[in-house]
Amino acid sequence: QLIPQDLFAAIESLKKDLNAIILAHYYQESDIQDIADYIGDSLELSRKAANTNADVIVFAGVHFMAETAKILNPHKLVLLPDLEAGCSLADTCPPKEFAAFKAAHPGHIVISYINCSAEIKAMSDIICTSSNAVKLVQQIPESQPIIFAPDRNLGRYVMQETGRDLVLWQGACIVHENFSEKKIVQLKIQHPQAQVIAHPECEEPVLRHADFIGSTSALLNFVQQNSAQEFIVVTEPGIIHQMHKKAPDKELIPAPPISNCACNECPFMKLNTLEKLYLAMKNKSPEITLSEDIRVRALKPIQRMLEMSK
Ligand code: 13P
Ligand code: SF4
Repeated sequence: QLIPQDLFAAIESLKKDLNAIILAHYYQESDIQDIADYIGDSLELSRKAANTNADVIVFAGVHFMAETAKILNPHKLVLLPDLEAGCSLADTCPPKEFAAFKAAHPGHIVISYINCSAEIKAMSDIICTSSNAVKLVQQIPESQPIIFAPDRNLGRYVMQETGRDLVLWQGACIVHENFSEKKIVQLKIQHPQAQVIAHPECEEPVLRHADFIGSTSALLNFVQQNSAQEFIVVTEPGIIHQMHKKAPDKELIPAPPISNCACNECPFMKLNTLEKLYLAMKNKSPEITLSEDIRVRALKPIQRMLEMSK
């Protein structure tokens, strides 16, 4: 298909024709972030999806994020530039195995990180994100046992912050488990004034070196508000684009991966391109679809999250 020379202008024009909103996550390539109407972390993006008046939601992120937007907006067209943009963490939690895990822990409520499929959400009581997981767990009575899925690293971090004992599903993100503790320590020696900021999906030996742990938006706010001049950023490097824009005088050092032949870009997030975003809007496809039964069951724990984290 013909790709226009000026993709920015073509996308702007389609946006008006479709009455569309473009929502983007911080891990998207810089051009996509620049054309987006709204950029945010998972909680902010789901709040925005819950409140938009647009007819079409173009989701520049990964599948579980676009799926959450569809769960909240069954009558809107929700487009994802590349349907293959999945999530390694969501993939670690297959519904059949999770149903058996749940059955093996009767009496437990299920709190699931938003990085999971609609089927897992439908089996959950409350959804959380990296920005509200601690707060939500703190609202559950101490006597109530909890299953936390699917991210073992965020789960362990929540256990540490709340002092609660959670039954953890052993899932993890390939991107955030690929940071090298050794190389972060070496960087700290080279940059003794730098603040180490990390996403809670990282493993404990890495988080141990962090001065600040938070969601992507929380990390961005920290860089803007903290008086330090240098930051070692331990999350997907797509976030550095907004950090540069919002805090142009700060030095941002991406934390290195374990192996030199790998990088810490999320291969799923990076499947979306400006061209694919244009084509998705032009063709009104690929769109997110869901069975109504799963959608209705997955909606409840998302609404509970939105109410509990007001
Ligand atoms: P945030 O909600 O912190 O943006 O995290 C999303 C994500 O997928 C991190 O890997
Ligand atoms: Fe999933 Fe990890 Fe990519 Fe986030 S960074 S979307 S958790 S694979």
